[in-house]
Amino acid sequence: MSASAEQDNLIIFDTTLRDGEQSPGASMNKDEKIRIARALEKLKVDVIEAGFPIASPGDFEAVRAVAESVRDSVVCGLARALDKDIDRAGEALKGGARTRIHTFIATSPIHMQMKLRMQPEAVLAQAVQAVKRARKFTDDVEFSPEDAGRSELDFLCRVIEAAIDAGATTINIPDTVGYNMPQQFGELIKTLLERIPNSARAVFSVHCHNDLGLAVANSLSAVKNGARQVECTINGLGERAGNAALEEVVMAVKTRKDFFQCATQIDTTQIVACSRLVSNITGFPVQPNKAIVGINAFAHESGIHQDGVLKNRETYEIMRAQDVGWSANRMVLGKHSGRNAFKTRLHELGVDFKTDEDLNNAFARFKQLADKKHEIYDEDLQALVTETSAEIANERIKLVALKVCSETGEVPCSEITLNVDGVEKKAQSEGDGTVDASFKAINKIVDTGGAELQLYSVNNITSGTDSQGEVTVRLRRNGMIVNGQGADTDIILASVKAYINGLNKIIAPVDRAHPQVETPAAPKL
Ligand code: KIV
Ligand code: ZN
Repeated sequence: MSASAEQDNLIIFDTTLRDGEQSPGASMNKDEKIRIARALEKLKVDVIEAGFPIASPGDFEAVRAVAESVRDSVVCGLARALDKDIDRAGEALKGGARTRIHTFIATSPIHMQMKLRMQPEAVLAQAVQAVKRARKFTDDVEFSPEDAGRSELDFLCRVIEAAIDAGATTINIPDTVGYNMPQQFGELIKTLLERIPNSARAVFSVHCHNDLGLAVANSLSAVKNGARQVECTINGLGERAGNAALEEVVMAVKTRKDFFQCATQIDTTQIVACSRLVSNITGFPVQPNKAIVGINAFAHESGIHQDGVLKNRETYEIMRAQDVGWSANRMVLGKHSGRNAFKTRLHELGVDFKTDEDLNNAFARFKQLADKKHEIYDEDLQALVTETSAEIANERIKLVALKVCSETGEVPCSEITLNVDGVEKKAQSEGDGTVDASFKAINKIVDTGGAELQLYSVNNITSGTDSQGEVTVRLRRNGMIVNGQGADTDIILASVKAYINGLNKIIAPVDRAHPQVETPAAPKL
């Protein structure tokens, strides 16, 4: 539903590509960010925060590329309240149609004293200077007093008033550490709007973290009290426990428009597709009971519920599954589909091939998959594109062959052949199951530098025993965390692909550097 004259518009600012990327292991490369940005544009989010350009050359390039490929949503770049950050953000956003610079500085006593080691007056002056500098690049400037949720009210009001006078058009109130309670946070927004003399000249926004599981509740309480922008992420991804989940905020406002008296521009039928895409690219699975986008979100198990729903859907359902895009899970392509149908469907999913060779490679993989699996869904296509990306084609370690043996009463074993920097190498190993044996065989060939396996998870991409298994592994080495993914109808093969993908990211991290992790030099294998 679009915002009507009687209802205020609630701006949806998506930060999946920036705060979401700060989830450990969720770093994305440029092409992946473009794919997600296009899906967000299709979802009709108002603002896409594409990254933190000063953080790394990879992040700069990604923000630049997103700004150039997105036309309908505003593209935003994050910058500390420092000249060099703001100039870098301005440079990255130069080619964009509609751009915003989001600049921030901490205002809570603990952050000012312990982190910035600055006096409050100096913080205020730096905030003003940053906003003025950002206005040289764009008229759309957002200012965040970081850790506002723990800042002193009088000082917070002074900083915000000064930032608006300096030209900030959006004031974002972050609960950086997820400390606030919904009623308290709502009252804070109300007080700021009432007390700050020039508050009507800016849109007030909120950015809530989920450390106490309250990010969505705090955001909604703020909306009820006058906030007109919510910063959120797909699937609630984000630093530590994550940010407010976009799908939950949007559907709460839509389902209870009687209560909130405002509306978003979001095309809610795109929510599930977007959620799947983000999960597939970042390797962060969606929990089955997750509101809106979990596989069980609309599944009625108890007989009483099923009976009620059959008699009248509204007995137990407050939203329709198809309104958030669940019915879109239909067969889209099959064995007999041609190259053109394949290319067209991927274009609709926001994926365009740069060269005919890329298209041909992906199409060949599609045909192999269609031989094994008769019905190909959008989710299968997304996984296939992730697997055939240029980055994967250039990986230093490639799987050549895998043979596993599994027999009741016998020790499972695996024989693996890898191509490492152009040289074929083979190893065998036994293990506690064929996945374990295969990972051990890989470790005999590749010096992983002590990379530690922190997570191994398997999900089916669609339903049925012929569905592709999507495996995520999380590896940690020297403080660097990466997620590796692999998909296949054979889950042993999917696991091996995921492990190899993770190892490749850890040994050649060049343009995927997480903004908060130092990039170590690529080691010898
Ligand atoms: O959590 C936070 O305070 C942030 C700011 C940069 C807005 O992410
Ligand atoms: Zn944040």
